[in-house]
Amino acid sequence: MSQFWKPGAEKPRLVDDEEGGVLFFSSPSGYANIERQRQRLPVYKYRTSILYLVETHATTIIVGETGSGKTTQIPQYLKEAGWADGGRVIACTQPRRLAVQSVASRVAEEMGVKLGEEVGYTIRFEDVTNTGVTMIKFLTDGVLLREMMNDPLLTKYSVIMIDEAHERSISTDILLGLLKKIQRRRPELRLIISSATIQAKSMSDFFQTSKTRRRPEGEELGPNMESAVLSVEGRGFNVQIHYVEEPVPDYLRAAVSTVLLIHEKEPMGDILVFLTGQDDIDAAVQLITEEDQNRGRKSSGLMVLPLYSGLPRSEQELVFTPTPRGKRKVVISTNIAETSITLEGVVYVVDSGFSKQRFYNPITDIENLVVAPISKASARQRTGRAGRVRPGKCYRLYTEEYFAKEMSAEGIPEIQRSNLVPCVIQLKALGIDNILGFDWPASPSSEAMVRALEVLYSLGVLDDDAKLTSPTGFQIAEIPLDPMISKMMLASGQLGCSEEMITIAATLSIQSIWVSGWGSQKELDEAKLNFAAAEGDHVSFLNVYKGFLQSGKSSQWCHKNFVNYQAMKKVLEIREQLRRTAQRIGIVLKSCERDTVVVRKAITNGFFANACRLEASSHDGKYKTIRGSQEVYIHPSSVLFRVNPKWVLYHSLVSTDKQYMRNVISIDPSWLTEAAPHFYQHQRLKSMVH
Ligand code: CDP
Ligand code: MG
Repeated sequence: MSQFWKPGAEKPRLVDDEEGGVLFFSSPSGYANIERQRQRLPVYKYRTSILYLVETHATTIIVGETGSGKTTQIPQYLKEAGWADGGRVIACTQPRRLAVQSVASRVAEEMGVKLGEEVGYTIRFEDVTNTGVTMIKFLTDGVLLREMMNDPLLTKYSVIMIDEAHERSISTDILLGLLKKIQRRRPELRLIISSATIQAKSMSDFFQTSKTRRRPEGEELGPNMESAVLSVEGRGFNVQIHYVEEPVPDYLRAAVSTVLLIHEKEPMGDILVFLTGQDDIDAAVQLITEEDQNRGRKSSGLMVLPLYSGLPRSEQELVFTPTPRGKRKVVISTNIAETSITLEGVVYVVDSGFSKQRFYNPITDIENLVVAPISKASARQRTGRAGRVRPGKCYRLYTEEYFAKEMSAEGIPEIQRSNLVPCVIQLKALGIDNILGFDWPASPSSEAMVRALEVLYSLGVLDDDAKLTSPTGFQIAEIPLDPMISKMMLASGQLGCSEEMITIAATLSIQSIWVSGWGSQKELDEAKLNFAAAEGDHVSFLNVYKGFLQSGKSSQWCHKNFVNYQAMKKVLEIREQLRRTAQRIGIVLKSCERDTVVVRKAITNGFFANACRLEASSHDGKYKTIRGSQEVYIHPSSVLFRVNPKWVLYHSLVSTDKQYMRNVISIDPSWLTEAAPHFYQHQRLKSMVH
């Protein structure tokens, strides 16, 4: 009774036609059942080889198709083989928070233990582990990097599995460089690098340690320091690829009509659609649901669900529950479903050809999230998602010629397209002084590096010798936030508004405090107006927070005001943690009550680099960044949209048809020179003010 289709199997049946529904996502009906499922996964055949390689090699690289069982099985094999004995811990990192939570709960379920005991997870601001009990710990690569600040050799771990290495997230790359150093000091530490695509060669080159390494006297014969590579054969089914004949003008619309067409013409089986982010995903969910209803049939059996990080727990679970009999699930996802998590039951994939990617330009000093074309490697991964349970179909919303001639073969590692400020401060805090000489899997650009050093110098984090300043630099490195936010918190201690700044920092750490998806945009905009502050978005957050507290933290109040109750609870939680950090590093906790000038001054202390000025001749709200003279506009979701104060600071940029500033406050330009005299030449700014 396998739910997998073998090629040539009799008549295709529905995925959910099996007894008890789709096994992988239903709760286990018994231990034997779970054992059988585990043994059916492709990695199972390699269990002995994997354990042998890990035993004998310092580094093992494992390549295997998504869904073959790398993430959920290998940590369990290691535990079964004794790698967690004696209080040691097996770590498995993921670039994405949602993936950390989802695989940890899956593994806890398979092992029949309570999440947070033998199997736990840690993401920023959420630690679900039990020291001394947890044997397998899933965590984001960013959290593991932070742990190195207190335990530079990561001594509690016996094996560290760097998973999803093909994603080349910035933290993964930094970790790989650091782990290579740690291995030299701790030959007993084992690394597993696992990846869905074959970049194994460059990875194994990276971990090839010199054969002529001199053994320090007295050192026992350790493992082979050269890395081993193992490839897990998958068992995907054939996927038929369909291209569009002409380029589509609007991938969102095209995705919507493709889904409806599949639903109309094709046999049952779930649909996975790759779009780019919360905005277009929410829009697509709404459009498909509406059009499906408009077609007159009462219940056509479509269940349309979004999937992106930041989605509330309850909604995530819907995505993972087996599709009820007679229904067809449509999951509209970011590229999180590309390799990080596997959805069972998908037979059709619709690939927009785009994803949201971070791009940084060191010349203009602008970093933003851009909707950009994916690589061929990504397109192939997306296609593969359709062949998990039986032969499937993939609809690419771009032409075959475009795929062949214009798509790049591989994506660019994130470290080469990011602002390096957070990365540099972290390495400095770990005592790595020569950052350009660091052993990177892919080198960042020297322009970006120089920019980062310059910003950190202006923030007062680095001194003239590019060393962390004491105490500012060390304090900022200690706060688990972007250094610009940490700096604004630190400044608020001196300005007497730390309570307010901690609320703002907590709010900026979550995706949105507003509900989306129900009610109309107009209603939401009106609800927002109740809290709108003339000074800008950050001050409006404070109003929402105050209202929430005054309501007695009521969920009804949230509902009435279009505020996301779950998000507000998260803000409270993060706030508490940040308050503890603040106290530890000596920030005085104090409220400024209603003084919004000090609040904005504190923000300016962190975000001076993001200052913009309204163009004198502009009637359409055009701003220019002070540093790079780039054209930017206030995002329609901001309370300052159409208000257009002369001088503003923004928290981040998003770019669609134009570059939009998100989360904006108005400032007085004199605060800029006060906050960062080195950064803004006084004269130049003065001439702009007049
Ligand atoms: O890491 P890799 O992509 O190789 O596979 P995995 O995540 O370990 O998934 C192995 C199997 O476990 C797949 O069939 C998944 O569908 C299933 N799984 C699950 O049912 N629930 C999860 N939260 C994660 C995985
Ligand atoms: Mg995985």
